[in-house]
Amino acid sequence: MPGRWYTAAQVEQGYEIFQQHCAVCHGTQAEGAVEQWWIPDEQGNYPPPPLNGTAHDWHHPLDELLDWIDRGGAHLGGQMPPFGHLLSDEEQRAAVAWFQSLWPEEIYRRWVTIHQR
Ligand code: HEC
Repeated sequence: MPGRWYTAAQVEQGYEIFQQHCAVCHGTQAEGAVEQWWIPDEQGNYPPPPLNGTAHDWHHPLDELLDWIDRGGAHLGGQMPPFGHLLSDEEQRAAVAWFQSLWPEEIYRRWVTIHQR
């Protein structure tokens, strides 16, 4: 993938991983569970957000995204389960590669500008 940190092979692998482990909550196209993902439920929990570049995902550098997937959301009061025991680092990186492949070029560029040196 020209100009991106990942390869086409990682995107392909990530697609499988995402459909198997993540789509149940984040949607098969990483579109999120609900349209208004920023509104918490009665318990104060946030729904699974989109990961397709339309939500907050691009605010986080790669290591934070990976850490979130590895540890889940519980350490920050969230609901997402951890995947550290299920997916290798390589598989977690592939999952990120896939959802980042959905980001519009403009969002990806902004992410690179903010987070990479
Ligand atoms: C059981 C439902 C569920 C599953 C399965 C799940 N997530 Fe999540 N995810 C959430 C929720 C809910 C949040 C919002 C924060 C929280 O409550 O932890 C979230 C947040 C995130 C975030 C942070 C987004 C942001 O903008 O801060 C990332 C990245 C993420 N998930 C990636 C993944 C990946 C990759 C997978 C598969 C390996 C996955 N999630 C599987 C429910 C889930």
